[in-house]
Amino acid sequence: MPPSYSLSQLNTFALEVKAQQLIHIDELSQLTQLLPITEPMLVLGGGSNMLFTEDYQGLILHNRLLGIEITADDDFHYLSVAGGENWHDLVMHCAELGIGGLENLALIPGTVGAAPVQNIGAYGVELADVCQAVHAYCLSSGEFHHFDLAQCQFAYRDSLFKRQRDYFISRVLLKLPKNWQPQLSYGELKQWAAKLAYQPSPLDVAKQVISVRQDKLPDPKQIPNVGSFFKNPIVDKAQAQQLLQQYDDMPQYVTSQGVKLAAGWLIDKLGLKGFAIGGAAVHQRQALVLINANHACADDVVLLAQHVREQVAKHFGVNLEPEVNFINEQGYSNLHDALKSLNRGSNHV
Ligand code: EPU
Repeated sequence: MPPSYSLSQLNTFALEVKAQQLIHIDELSQLTQLLPITEPMLVLGGGSNMLFTEDYQGLILHNRLLGIEITADDDFHYLSVAGGENWHDLVMHCAELGIGGLENLALIPGTVGAAPVQNIGAYGVELADVCQAVHAYCLSSGEFHHFDLAQCQFAYRDSLFKRQRDYFISRVLLKLPKNWQPQLSYGELKQWAAKLAYQPSPLDVAKQVISVRQDKLPDPKQIPNVGSFFKNPIVDKAQAQQLLQQYDDMPQYVTSQGVKLAAGWLIDKLGLKGFAIGGAAVHQRQALVLINANHACADDVVLLAQHVREQVAKHFGVNLEPEVNFINEQGYSNLHDALKSLNRGSNHV
């Protein structure tokens, strides 16, 4: 049977892709009745970090579970949020209530259930800083799991859920201190805060983050994209030092895992902003974002991503790893497999 469910509204790169089967999960009972699931399946939230390089020959479960519960004790606000809630709406809801802690993560596209998978992060805050626990169903065994913070195994754009793909995240539990202090260490926020004569509220910070993001990140509704296409690469100290000798203006950030470089800066330095293959292009204002500029097909994006990767490797000796998830007809894949399919002429999208 040819795939018949359109995913064009369910992936923010706006590729014209289809799935064999699609079920919107609005109630938990719909999900539990399906468990365990033995056929090929994948869970979709907002589709803002998914690149479908082919039609998907399996079942897609679209998480649309809703509900936000907020409680508190003397020291903390506790949020229990259903996985299908929109992440940005949650951030704004909290900021408007004066509950601080999520505001640096404003305007990140996608759902609450997707947030732990890649441990979303921006402007010095990541989900791991505010997450208390994750509730998820293992789709293959049908079992319910409560993962505490340590069990989520969060790291830079990584978690247990990114490595073990058969979890359906039903709720995310967040713990936000009442004794909130704004996190303003990030360059653009620091400059803004330095000019203020008062301590900004969570809503002030959220509005500033929105303004900074809108300045350089394209709105997926207007210009389809998946946010940062690549992760910022982490290199060892010796390589970082060597690169700094060649490029004294290269941004570098020391982390516990090594020295993090800015992939956007590397791509920009090579003059690739605006570079296009077919309908896919490197964004003019933020080189880390690839956009669907003009009816791109999957092959255009795959070829563009590979070109960017090759150029960065050739000039800087640094490997860029995609941050976005590649999905082929069988499920999770990678850029390498997408290129192989392309050579065989089997990318249909
Ligand atoms: N830069 C350039 N040219 C560019 C892009 C960046 O020179 O075209 C330079 C900037 O001037 C800055 C450095 O590179 O010195 C870093 O750029 P930026 O602050 O824009 O952040 P980023 O490293 O490109 C990361 C996250 C973003 C997050 C921002 C802010 C990753 C992969 N990306 O981007 O997350 O919003 O920091 O914290 O870690 C996402 O994951 O989809 C995402 C947008």
